[in-house]
Amino acid sequence: MSEPAERLAVRFAGLDCVSPIWTASGTFGYGQEFAPYLDLSDLGGICTKGISPKPRGGNPLPRICETASGMINSIGLENVGVEGFREKKLPFLKASGTRVVVNFFGETFDDYVACGAALDAMDGVHALEMNVSCPNIKKGGVEYGTDPAVLQDLVRQCRAVTKKPLIIKLTPNCTDIVALARASMEGGADGLSVINTISAMAIDARRRRPRIATTFGGLSGPAIKPIALRMVYQVHRALPDVPISGIGGIATGEDVAEFLLAGATTVQVGTQSFAEPHAARRIHGELVQFMRDEKISDVRELIGGLQGGR
Ligand SMILES: Cc1cc2nc3c(=O)[nH]c(=O)nc-3n(C[C@H](O)[C@H](O)[C@H](O)COP(=O)(O)O)c2cc1C
Repeated sequence: MSEPAERLAVRFAGLDCVSPIWTASGTFGYGQEFAPYLDLSDLGGICTKGISPKPRGGNPLPRICETASGMINSIGLENVGVEGFREKKLPFLKASGTRVVVNFFGETFDDYVACGAALDAMDGVHALEMNVSCPNIKKGGVEYGTDPAVLQDLVRQCRAVTKKPLIIKLTPNCTDIVALARASMEGGADGLSVINTISAMAIDARRRRPRIATTFGGLSGPAIKPIALRMVYQVHRALPDVPISGIGGIATGEDVAEFLLAGATTVQVGTQSFAEPHAARRIHGELVQFMRDEKISDVRELIGGLQGGR
């Protein structure tokens, strides 16, 4: 097959990616589940389901529900644990030919550091993505990622145990996303993922009950795209040299272009993969078509290219 005229390769925090399109944590399993639907080596990267030091069960059912243009989930970070990941999931990912970005979290600082250190030692893990949207039990259940001082300290401690690119996935459940972005970078991060899900709830009026067992969950899907774009743009405007992976409601090739224009270097396809397991492949094709239509030969021309923004 001849080389396509459009160049899609990007470099993100030291990672060479064949395309800016990654898949988002928790929406693409550990890659293997989606292999029948698309060629994983065409993806710029795969972010795995969040890994914790020990295996975890999930929250009680029901833990997902559909909402207007989106969904709410409260899966509870169910996962195979770091050892289970190394034994059962990593070999497939390693052979898949894509960049393996392992999403991780903990319930305490020590958990985060232990998980980061264990992943650092694994051949085939190309980068770490730290999920800071977990309740900090010592701080009364507030997410780790909402207090800049706590976040900076957490990033610094994880930075000390890994040489791999360290990406911090910011929570939108805050008043000042730029302060969290700065704190992460000052703690030693290499890049940022923007954004995780937005705290939300849904009610079944006839039953007079919450629609998910934990009452609150995380909203994702097209409903959150405008908020995600705003946050990517704000972070890029304040910290123009920081690589950003844009996430939130991406469903088309043109959505990808919008995130790149706002300042993202890569993007992640999330909820859309549930509706359509080959979504990332279709979106890739649409991005190429968009570039053709707009006479853009290199996707990097789009990054931060928004005009007229304030
Ligand atoms: C069912 C589900 C599970 C998720 N699990 C994780 C996770 O383990 N770690 C994490 O950082 N984000 C997790 N996310 C958040 C997504 O990676 C993504 O940031 C969010 O869904 C917004 O993107 P989207 O609107 O394209 O889905 C999860 C999202 C969903 C819907």
